[in-house]
Amino acid sequence: MGSDRSERFDFLVLGSGIAGLSFALDVAQGGTVAIITKKSRAESNTNYAQGGIACVTSDEDSFDLHLRDTLEAGCGLCREDVVRGIVEDGPQRISELIGRGMAFSKREADSGGSATELDLGREGGHSRRRVLHAKDVTGREIERTLLAAVEGHPNIRIFENHLAVNLITTDRLGHAHPRRCIGAYVFDKEADEVKTFVAPVTMLATGGCGKVYLYTTNPDIATGDGIAMAYRAGARVANMEFVQFHPTCLYHPEAKSFLISEAVRGEGARLKSRAGRFFMKDHDPKGELAPRDIVARAIDAEMKRTGADCVYLDLSHKEEGFAENRFPNIYRTCLKFGFDMAEDPIPVVPAAHYQCGGVLTSQCGETDIPGLFAVGEVACTGLHGANRLASNSLLEALVLARRAADKVLNAKAEAVPFTVPRWESGNVSTPDELVVVSHNWDEIRRLMWDYVGIVRSTKRLQRAFSRLQNLIREIDEFYWNFRVTADLLELRNLALVASLIVECAMKRKESRGLHYTLDYPNLAPSGAKDTVLVCGDGCAERLRI
Ligand code: FAD
Ligand code: SIN
Repeated sequence: MGSDRSERFDFLVLGSGIAGLSFALDVAQGGTVAIITKKSRAESNTNYAQGGIACVTSDEDSFDLHLRDTLEAGCGLCREDVVRGIVEDGPQRISELIGRGMAFSKREADSGGSATELDLGREGGHSRRRVLHAKDVTGREIERTLLAAVEGHPNIRIFENHLAVNLITTDRLGHAHPRRCIGAYVFDKEADEVKTFVAPVTMLATGGCGKVYLYTTNPDIATGDGIAMAYRAGARVANMEFVQFHPTCLYHPEAKSFLISEAVRGEGARLKSRAGRFFMKDHDPKGELAPRDIVARAIDAEMKRTGADCVYLDLSHKEEGFAENRFPNIYRTCLKFGFDMAEDPIPVVPAAHYQCGGVLTSQCGETDIPGLFAVGEVACTGLHGANRLASNSLLEALVLARRAADKVLNAKAEAVPFTVPRWESGNVSTPDELVVVSHNWDEIRRLMWDYVGIVRSTKRLQRAFSRLQNLIREIDEFYWNFRVTADLLELRNLALVASLIVECAMKRKESRGLHYTLDYPNLAPSGAKDTVLVCGDGCAERLRI
């Protein structure tokens, strides 16, 4: 154990997406804040969000309708009180975001005057137009707005290229103090060393785990680090089997599963087979605007039935200029790959998109571990149930970040009164590592895609589970015996999170929402229950100190 050379702050925020930045801004009035982020500050799922934020702002809409749509999409597993609270807090949080400088798209004024009303988009599962957006780059605009506010704040420091490795809890340090989280070990990629960050409050805002799958809409940061850290520290995680596959990503070898927003279907685009048959009404009376789990399964079934590599999304019937004006980013990106969506149907396939489960939290973002909060895609609040309603995640992050901030500001946490041992880096590197790391990354992502995808079976899940346990053992050997690298740390998290997804999926003996298994094709007669996993005292790992 080394001496204490830790960085000390009042609030430690892991992640710089909508959840982390909103929380940081909300608590900065109460003390110093460190934002730790593993790449450049804007790189996050938030930055790529297209469709927008679902929120009741129109006279034709109501909280009851938003509640009903969310519950329906969630297939019996949402917590109604949680949904109601988030939906009702939405308008206030949206006004604050606008106050911070967020520019949502406005409706074209009918008689040529200036546009004043917000333009509301529509997406699958929504019975009303209620999605606020900035054309089709809503997330980029949110990141820009929040980062501008953070960068000017005297109490906030951002640490880029810093990757959080493990949470530090008093019990793992062997302290007699009651269990609490007091910070995190963080790998500084440029300095190539693990540093100690200490704070009485740690906010986990590390986002989701799309990179567990071979094909995903998520950027490279989405490796499930926060779930893995929280699980290793002994917090409960839940409902990891509910991985949402977005139905429509551009099918092109170099497009990296570029998302074609559901808002495109909201504006009337239709799905058809190569032979030109519109197939969605065969699967659901809501057609293209059925909830995502239904549309993704319908596309999967259509591709399997016809042996085609993709299906097609057709918006070519809209008036001239519509696609380019309403979806400029999607339009330009499709053109770059040789598809003019204003003229022709574009090829699309589903890809992993969103993690509905996560670290279990209260309605204020508190986890099982005092001092540790979780907000955003990393968390499981009960809002999404078995299938998230489109555009509800940005809303959830805004609402929960504020509630968590209120909670910690009202109950000022005690400073951490003791020294914290330094991370044990070790001196030895291994030449073997690079190939093992890249091989295992590929293997995990492919096996999850092949065995734990849109349609599952018990046999495939068992196969995936046993392979993952071998991989976890091999990766652990590298972790404990050699100097760590960013790729190795992410791989270790990816393997654990993949295994948690499979474990949850094996526990669920029914098909519900996003979890569809051939062996149990119906809902369980015993009703909707969460699948909860905990790495108890027996298995939670020691720290590398
Ligand atoms: P993120 O925005 O993903 O931020 C996570 C942050 O944590 C990043 O800064 C990352 O670098 C950092 N991080 C991760 N691990 C570590 C670590 N170990 N150490 C340090 N930093 C770490 N939702 C909607 O509601 N509406 C939409 O229109 C919409 N469109 C989407 C489109 C795309 C293409 C994608 C991928 C998602 C979309 N979503 C949408 C989902 C939504 O964007 C995310 O759920 C939401 O942005 C998550 O916010 P977050 O702050 O929890 O996480
Ligand atoms: C989209 O624009 O289709 C993504 C919306 C979401 O994931 O909520």
